Amino acid sequence: MIRQEKMTVVAQAEIATNIFELTLQGELVQDMTPGQFVHVKVSDSFEPLLRRPISIADVDKEKNEFTMIYRAEGRGSQVLATNREGQLVDVLGPIGNGFPVEAVEPGQTALLVGGGIGVPPLHELSKQLNAHGVKTIHVLGFQTADVAFYDEQFASLGETFYATVDGSKGIKGFVTTVFDEVKPEFDVFYSCGPLPMLRALEQYYPDKEGYLSFEERMGCGIGACFACVCKTTDAVEKDYVKVCSDGPVFPKGVVAL
Ligand SMILES: Cc1cc2nc3c(=O)[nH]c(=O)nc-3n(C[C@H](O)[C@H](O)[C@H](O)COP(=O)(O)OP(=O)(O)OC[C@H]3O[C@@H](n4cnc5c(N)ncnc54)[C@H](O)[C@@H]3O)c2cc1C
Ligand code: FES
Repeated sequence: MIRQEKMTVVAQAEIATNIFELTLQGELVQDMTPGQFVHVKVSDSFEPLLRRPISIADVDKEKNEFTMIYRAEGRGSQVLATNREGQLVDVLGPIGNGFPVEAVEPGQTALLVGGGIGVPPLHELSKQLNAHGVKTIHVLGFQTADVAFYDEQFASLGETFYATVDGSKGIKGFVTTVFDEVKPEFDVFYSCGPLPMLRALEQYYPDKEGYLSFEERMGCGIGACFACVCKTTDAVEKDYVKVCSDGPVFPKGVVAL
């Protein structure tokens, strides 16, 4: 159930260039599943008015804490980056349908493919898949090495390959360059990142079962404003879906890419 809560800042740190890790504590954490997101009000004033959607990157239900990782680029996220330990942050969530962990059987292998600020939700997903007895392979794409994060966390969960546009970390190129070179063997793929990456992934593995998470622009975040609608393919009955309430995760082949 989606609820609103003033959550307490446990820690905030810059973990890569302009990339922040923010840990919050509160009751909402008990309902969180991987691939869901929260809608964050970045300041108490009317400016900026709209909430910002951010993925759930790590969940610790025992401590009632969750972590998000975000790029402080625009107005709202820069305000969010000024929050310090002990301050309260207004959070709406958890929102949306996350990644189906049960889509892959214990003993099978999942390929997790992330690009830039699409990488954070794959961390909690990988944790849950590993707990479910699934082997995970991670292929993570970034612009450059200085904006990459969570190296150790991903390495502790499974084999991890990197692609950067300038070759400063891992293979020079895109995640598809890694597929060409490494030829990963897997049963199901899960992905979150920019649209061209999701499109390439669908085309690359047409015969594999896969799930894609979309980071569309949003308004209300709760299905009421139509800001996040995406056209669907001919394979589905509906003409469009709302990323906030129907997604953000969809099986491959649902959203027209
Ligand atoms: C489901 C979902 C999960 C996301 N998870 C993450 C995450 O884990 N880490 C992260 O860094 N970013 C994530 N994003 C993208 C993030 O929401 C935007 O980068 C952020 O809202 C931009 O806000 P700003 O204040 O920096 O920019 P501004 O330019 O000030 O934002 C202006 C308006 O545009 C919207 N907007 C701008 N860019 C985007 C975008 N790419 N996607 C959605 N709305 C946008 C903002 O919500 C705001 O209403 C996610 C987006 C969605 C939809
Ligand atoms: S953001 Fe308002 S309907 Fe999705």
